[in-house]
Amino acid sequence: MKRITLTRFLIDEQYNRKAVPADLRLLIEVVSRSIKAISTTVGKGALAGILGDAGSGNIQGEAQKKLDVIANEILLEANEWGGHLAAMASEEMEGPHAIPHRFPKGEYLLLFDPLDGSSNIDVNTSVGTIFSVLRCPEGVTTPTESAFLQPGTAQVCAGFAVYGPSTVLVLTLGAGVHTFTLDRELGGFVLTQQHVQIPADTQEFAINMSNMRHWEPPMKRYVEEMLAGKTGPLGRDYNMRWIASMVADVFRILTRGGIFMYPRDNKDPSKPGRLRLMYEANPMAMIIEQAGGAASTGRERILDIEPSALHQRVAVILGSKNEVERVVSYHRVVGE
Ligand code: F6P
Repeated sequence: MKRITLTRFLIDEQYNRKAVPADLRLLIEVVSRSIKAISTTVGKGALAGILGDAGSGNIQGEAQKKLDVIANEILLEANEWGGHLAAMASEEMEGPHAIPHRFPKGEYLLLFDPLDGSSNIDVNTSVGTIFSVLRCPEGVTTPTESAFLQPGTAQVCAGFAVYGPSTVLVLTLGAGVHTFTLDRELGGFVLTQQHVQIPADTQEFAINMSNMRHWEPPMKRYVEEMLAGKTGPLGRDYNMRWIASMVADVFRILTRGGIFMYPRDNKDPSKPGRLRLMYEANPMAMIIEQAGGAASTGRERILDIEPSALHQRVAVILGSKNEVERVVSYHRVVGE
């Protein structure tokens, strides 16, 4: 089989399909180089002394791991000077990161979760990087938070990497989802699956069951029905998987279907969910929809949410379309 590198794929998208402008192509190439650098760093593990806590907290008040900080620095540094960005925002930083004056500026905004699932680092389980690209609103030269507050439907590109047994990069430019695998010897990403499609039906679910007592009634109902198996109302047995690393759980769903849920709960009423809209929910929702799946909070389509803050949290229910729609219909029954 002819090997198609990420560069070749993007050039083809730029010239033959006119699906990606030159500066967006450059942006994706730079992000993919950062991902390679993060992959190499993650792969060194304890040998490089990079495991454990950084001794600092992020804007969400969560303890930062050393690798959270390193991955954030890699992405910031690599994307500052290329002239393709107007600003960046990271889950690890309070406000937008401006492009230093000495560098040229571009028309895109890059948002990222530098190391998703970082509680898994020290136990040597898959982690990843999630990113989303928006256009900087016209006439804005120094983007502040409000420039980033665009709904998920405005994303021009979304992607994520999983640092697992192999490093994979999942990418959408709004016309399907494609997967690339890092060739560690050659140091480049190679196209390994084109136009990924998620099966509409599934018998596999992913949720942190320890929160069950805090869930709202529609979610309790759905999970109880799945647990009831063949003789229950859904008439079939279900299997459960929870990696506690969204990138790995979503990659599994892209591979063989499934439903991933981090629902709203009443554990901490100040938080309407655990996952972040701008860094996790929106990019993953775009990818899932582009692969034929669905993504909702239970009450509304994730991509339609008008964001109110950079670090806003939302409930996330995504994956195989028919199961996501079932959960949405259970929320509707309660809402009526
Ligand atoms: O913060 C994001 C995250 O680590 C996701 O990657 C993952 O799905 C979830 O949180 C894990 O949550 P919990 O610790 O409740 O299992």
